Amino acid sequence: MTDIFDFGKKVDDYAVIGNPISHSKSPSIHALFAEQTQQSILYTAMHVDVGGFSQAVGNFAAAGGKGLNITVPFKQEAWALVNERSERAERAGAVNTIKIDNDHLYGDNTDGVGLVNDLTLNNGIDLSGKNILLMGAGGAARGVLIPLLKEKPASLFIANRTPDKAKDLAEDFADSGNIQGGGYESLADKQFDVVINATAASLQGELPPLPDTLLNDNASCYDMMYAAEPTPFMQWASSHNASKVLDGLGMLVEQAAESFYIWRNVKPETKSVIEKLRKKLDK
Ligand SMILES: NC(=O)c1ccc[n+]([C@@H]2O[C@H](COP(=O)([O-])OP(=O)(O)OC[C@H]3O[C@@H](n4cnc5c(N)ncnc54)[C@H](OP(=O)(O)O)[C@@H]3O)[C@@H](O)[C@H]2O)c1
Repeated sequence: MTDIFDFGKKVDDYAVIGNPISHSKSPSIHALFAEQTQQSILYTAMHVDVGGFSQAVGNFAAAGGKGLNITVPFKQEAWALVNERSERAERAGAVNTIKIDNDHLYGDNTDGVGLVNDLTLNNGIDLSGKNILLMGAGGAARGVLIPLLKEKPASLFIANRTPDKAKDLAEDFADSGNIQGGGYESLADKQFDVVINATAASLQGELPPLPDTLLNDNASCYDMMYAAEPTPFMQWASSHNASKVLDGLGMLVEQAAESFYIWRNVKPETKSVIEKLRKKLDK
């Protein structure tokens, strides 16, 4: 990505660091934000070898870089590296956004607010008082727990293939809401209003084992993964009469918008950006 947006001001450097990184949509998303808000930025994608993360961040900061997005597999390393963290990053144990002020690195995690904004603002799903099922207990699940619990759901159940990981995660966050965890077999007698898939099962074309009785009337189903075709979980949700069936493209754009806001203090409009990305995905 070589688009430079120079609206008569000094161009500030930003980048996303990951491995692999060539598939990243972040440069396109931030280019659209910059154009729309007339911010003079250059945003590139940086492939970094495992073991080379802190050096790469140090070099970027020393060269005057203003901010970074961090993706797989460096989010935990970024958490350890920064000098200061937001509360949500602290609890997530992972950082996906760094704001650089000379040699001071401020770390945040915008994945959870990205998910919540996509559910509530873009899709009109009110989470307060709802029974939520979160499938998966990996990095993505941990990262969204605080913003989800801040919406004050009636309950949040974490289900995971390895049940102990779900139980441990629920215990870690028990101070922040009505949260429990277990295996998929515990879902047999439970019904939910909102079901969020934060597993990597969709990436493998698989579906966690879900009972036919899982969804309440008017339930919404959300897969954090996105693709041109509906994921196995989205297909399951449609065939079980979910009222809303959504993928994670909106979350991706919303987490980027929150990063952009942290860096530039300007909120980009996201709807048109989600639409543009959706069109590209469908090609
Ligand atoms: N849209 C976005 O902006 C966004 C942002 C972040 C992540 N994501 C997506 O979220 C997903 C999870 O990412 P992550 O970073 O949390 O990965 P992760 O840390 O590797 O965790 C993977 C989770 O998926 C579970 N899992 C894997 N294969 C499974 C299967 N076949 N059946 C049931 N459960 C399975 C694992 O269970 P065990 O604990 O039993 O192994 C674990 O809970 C990915 O698809 C990623 O692309 C999307």
